[in-house]
Formats: sequence, C-alpha cells, structure tokens
Amino acid sequence: MELAPLIPLDGAIAVIDQTRLPFARTTRTLANLEACALAIETMVVRGAPLIGATAAFGVAIAMRHDTSNDALEAALTRLGRTRPTAVNLHWALARMATKLRPLTPDLRSAAAWREALAVHAEDIAANRALGEYGRSLLARHAEGLDRPLRVMTHCNAGALATCGWGTALAPIYLAHQAGLSIEVWVSETRPRNQGLLTAWELSEGGVPHTLIADNAAGLLMRQGLVDVVITGADRIAANGDTANKVGTYLKALAAREHGVPFYIAAPTSTIDAASPDGDAIPIESRSDDEICVLHGIDGAGEAAQVRMFNGPCANPAFDVTPAALIAGILTERGRFDAARITEALA
Ligand code: MRU
Repeated sequence: MELAPLIPLDGAIAVIDQTRLPFARTTRTLANLEACALAIETMVVRGAPLIGATAAFGVAIAMRHDTSNDALEAALTRLGRTRPTAVNLHWALARMATKLRPLTPDLRSAAAWREALAVHAEDIAANRALGEYGRSLLARHAEGLDRPLRVMTHCNAGALATCGWGTALAPIYLAHQAGLSIEVWVSETRPRNQGLLTAWELSEGGVPHTLIADNAAGLLMRQGLVDVVITGADRIAANGDTANKVGTYLKALAAREHGVPFYIAAPTSTIDAASPDGDAIPIESRSDDEICVLHGIDGAGEAAQVRMFNGPCANPAFDVTPAALIAGILTERGRFDAARITEALA
C-alpha cells in the first residue's frame, strides 16, 4: 500500500489535502506551526494516527524556528487545542513534551525532528503489524465460503487516516494482496463523507467495494450480506469502550442483533488508559455547516456549495461503542478482548 498522506521534508511536511479528495489529489506543504494546527482543525489531515503524526511534526517544525521553553509550550498548547477526541493527538504531544522538555534549547531542534520521524515510522509499522493479525482473522472468517468475504467499514480508517496502511483497511489490503476474495461495504459517513475517501483508496488499491448510504447498513446485515464489520478508533477507554466516527455505534448495535462480529482496529497509541470508560471521552462537536451545506464540484470543475437548511442543528462528530458490542480489538501487539485492552499496553 503505497499511499503516503504525510511525507517529511526538510523542516516541513507535505500532506495530501483530504478536503479536496476524491475530486482532486493535491499536496500542501506545511512549513510552520500554525499551518500544521490549521490543517488538523480544517481536516486537511484527519484520522486519529495522522492527526497525531501531524502534531508531532508541528512541534518539530516549531522547534526549527524557536527552541525556547516558551516556544515549546506554545506549540504544545496550540496543537493540543485543535481536535478533542482523537487521543493520538495528545499521545503524540505528550511524547514530544517528554522528549524535549528536559533538553537544553540547543539540542531541541534535531531531537524534535528525530522524534517526529519515529512517530511517523512507528505508526506505519504498527498498522502493518495489526494488519497481519487482521488478515489472519479475515481468512478465518472466510473459511468455508464459496463467495467473497463481505466486510463492512465506516468512515475512513485507511492509509489516508494514518501514516500508511491504515487501521481497519490494513487487514483488508493485506488479505486482498494475499489472494483472499473480499468485497467491502463502504458506508458514506455523513456529514463529512469520509466513506468517499475509503472508496477512493480501495479503488486505488484495486479492492472490490460498494458505497452505501450509512442507513443501509442495518438492512444489509439483516439480509445476511455482511460477514464482518471492522472500523478504526479515535480513542479506546480503559474498559474497552471505543469512540469512533459518529454512526459506528449504530453499526455495532445492528451487528450484535444480526450475529455479525464487530471488530475495532487501532494502534496502541489510540488507547487512553486515563479514560476509565466511554463517558470520559470528549466528543467533538463540529460546525452546523457540515450538516447543512453540501459540497461538490460544478460542471466547470469548480468547488460548489449548496445550503440545504438554516434551522437548528447538532453535529457530534463521534460516538462511543460499548466494549460489550466489540468482538475484539486488533492492535500491533495482537488481538485483545475489548474489556482487557489495557493489557496491550503492558
Ligand atoms: O473526523 P475524522 O475524519 O478525523 O475521524 C476519523 C475517524 O473517526 C476514523 O475512523 C478513526 O480516526 C480511525 S483512523 C485510523
């Protein structure tokens, strides 16, 4: 899987602008702290692990310009306020802080860059490793089938959401590459349509897939057309309750009703041992415009917007799936029961 949503440059990073996909593949260069923070806030980069890596580079880029204590604390604070739910952001910032705070300023610039590179490389390796566990799991679910294995996913937990491979999509890519016959139900993921990113990625990777409206998921499970559901995660609490893109919980409920196993795939950087359960996870509330304004491309290839509604809206961007609905959590250290997920940190 060669899709690289973040490429480290010299004192900057190049990122794929995910607000323009799937209509246009454009790259942006982020060369200062504010550009990194804005890219996270506006979802030019998105997905928990990629948000974390961008934040790590945001600190490292800031340190290229000013290595003072004040500059370090300002970078950590600015980046820490960008998005609340994905714990990988706070994990990455804590890691940068732990590395850099004890150092004298003259040592910080090089050390910060090394640490951000390590965050980036480790994420790719973790996703590849959890993908291998997931590939075996999917192969087991495919045993005895005389048709393709049908896997449903939600949001985009692919390479675009990470530094490479993805989380929920890593097992799918590896299974497909190993020759397993597989078809993916891609739910569109209103209101930001991250499902279109998943469909785009799977198309680039040659993996058979079908886009569905979010609300079609229950019907498909009832009709016996889904063998496995697998999604990513933005934060996994100590008891295994898992926050992911809004709509995940409804899929888990439908999966339980219809006897379809529901898995989470996430690197251990997504586990938040400090949140005892799902109620402790902060849920991001985003702009009403994400629900009320439809975005597209007009006939001349220009960005076009249509406002559908002017009344009151609520836009929680994530929901929490209770551990009891999760058949297992795939991490780079193997598959864990949701209720015992903290063992993955041991
Ligand atoms: O709001 P987003 O697009 O950043 O949300 C992303 C998700 O919810 C993903 O499913 C999650 O981060 C897992 S990504 C590997």
